Amino acid sequence: MKLKNQIQKKLHKVYFYGFDTESDKKLFQKSTLSYEDKKIILDDLTNNQKFVKIVIGITRYNFFCMDKIINKILSYENKITNVKAFNIFPVLSIKDRFIRYLEGLNLPEFFEFDIVDEKLIELLEKFQILRTKKIESENDTARLLGILCEQMFIGPWHIVIDTCHTCNTNCTHCRLHSPTNNQTKDYYKMKMSFENFKKIIDDAAELKVEMINLIGGGEPLLNPNLMKMVEYIKSKGLKALFFTNGILLTEKISKKIIELGLDEVWCSLPAGSGKTFKTINPMNNEKTYDKIISNLSNLTELKKRKNLDNPKIVMTHVIHTQNHHELIEMAQKDIEVGANEARYFLFRMDPTNVHLKLTKEDFSRIKKQVPIVEKIFKNSSVHFKENIKFQIDNFEVNKGYFSKDFFLKHGCIIGYLYSDIEANGNVRFCCHNRNVGNISKSSYKELWTSKKYEKYRVQAKYIDKNKDVLFENNQTLFDDECFKCENHPMMNAIFLKLKKNDLMKYYKN
Ligand SMILES: C[S@@+](CC[C@H](N)C(=O)[O-])C[C@H]1O[C@@H](n2cnc3c(N)ncnc32)[C@H](O)[C@@H]1O
Ligand code: SF4
Ligand code: SF4
Repeated sequence: MKLKNQIQKKLHKVYFYGFDTESDKKLFQKSTLSYEDKKIILDDLTNNQKFVKIVIGITRYNFFCMDKIINKILSYENKITNVKAFNIFPVLSIKDRFIRYLEGLNLPEFFEFDIVDEKLIELLEKFQILRTKKIESENDTARLLGILCEQMFIGPWHIVIDTCHTCNTNCTHCRLHSPTNNQTKDYYKMKMSFENFKKIIDDAAELKVEMINLIGGGEPLLNPNLMKMVEYIKSKGLKALFFTNGILLTEKISKKIIELGLDEVWCSLPAGSGKTFKTINPMNNEKTYDKIISNLSNLTELKKRKNLDNPKIVMTHVIHTQNHHELIEMAQKDIEVGANEARYFLFRMDPTNVHLKLTKEDFSRIKKQVPIVEKIFKNSSVHFKENIKFQIDNFEVNKGYFSKDFFLKHGCIIGYLYSDIEANGNVRFCCHNRNVGNISKSSYKELWTSKKYEKYRVQAKYIDKNKDVLFENNQTLFDDECFKCENHPMMNAIFLKLKKNDLMKYYKN
């Protein structure tokens, strides 16, 4: 590169890495100088007629904000400038454009660049190739780059929105509606307002979010606005899915979701027979189970008639002591109803459902069934969504943990992939009560792009060193939930992509 000027005699170099003391120190941890200190040194040197060079140390953690750094330094020199920002899009030409960007900056003599991160250009080249060869989409590439450069370039992959807290059943494993739950009446009344919902979706569209998941602490089909919500999401060009227990997935609803172009419907069915369903749903009975099965079959039939793939039907089976013996029957039912995908997962144990704890015998019975289930699906058109094999490998029978120290070892990158918005507007870092703010005070976009969110993202990537970091609601970054974190498939998929594309070596400095 021709960017480096020749080192001259008696030349004094002052390095800048960030656009304020905090970002400067983040990038050059050995620095003990504040931005103000550096300014004093610069003034001193110039007043004493010394020859000074301001060097901007470029790394993968700041190449995208050269404008901010340069404009800030030039403002010290009382020079009015307007250095334009470097845009990472289109990623297809990111390396070539970045080099041209630096060369075209045309800065005063006393400026110099030093690409101190020797892997930066190589990294940008790899991303350029990812797009040239169309290995990843533009948005996914930007998300991957963001994880490596610890900078958010785009919105999350998924936003989960809490629709309402009422339910028409009482699954024994459910933290909110089981007969042993302990929520307040006010909690059950909570519902996402349509006005707030629209604002979130507008922001999501602007941020190029991939998918909106309508879930929540209750049954989404009990929110009278659910269809309006799906319609709004689709009108903004985003993908949408909702979870349901399937009880209210009537023919009318099925026709409507087909018409609206819903992408996926995730049906949570914790049983492979009416008898087990009744045990797990004490306020319902075997007829309800049959109704769910016929609702799903009906949806498949309607799709077939219209020759449509969507909405995909994804069956999800939470497993605990009351249904651990029925994995095979669940698989057979999934095929019978015409599901597209199926996912099994071990239940999250908490004080309200410890009586469902898996015994050693239960666990070995589950382990025996999984390969059979896989084989059954292989011979069908239902895709087995891997999840439970990871959980089995990482399971601790006594505590019910199923992700062990995976996140402590690899870091948690949820902050780049996901946000969860509760019915009351709380924006959570993950599904485990880690509040970043509330949309009544700042919009979702403001929160997602805030310095505060940015800091949490990076701290979570190095979660082993930041366990005690506190969120707005005084919840620590790390707690027991991280040992039974259901986000491992999402993060594993990213790690797999990084490995496949030889990018893992840039993951942590
Ligand atoms: C709380 S429900 C809300 C949406 C809808 N009512 C349903 O059941 O699909 C969302 C998901 O959480 C799962 N779930 C509930 N309690 C759980 C637990 N203790 N451990 C793991 N997953 C659980 C349900 O199986 C469901 O798939
Ligand atoms: S259907 Fe969903 S919200 Fe209702 S009790 Fe079951 S898990 Fe909980
Ligand atoms: S529970 Fe822990 S590991 Fe899982 S997403 Fe939340 S912070 Fe990350």
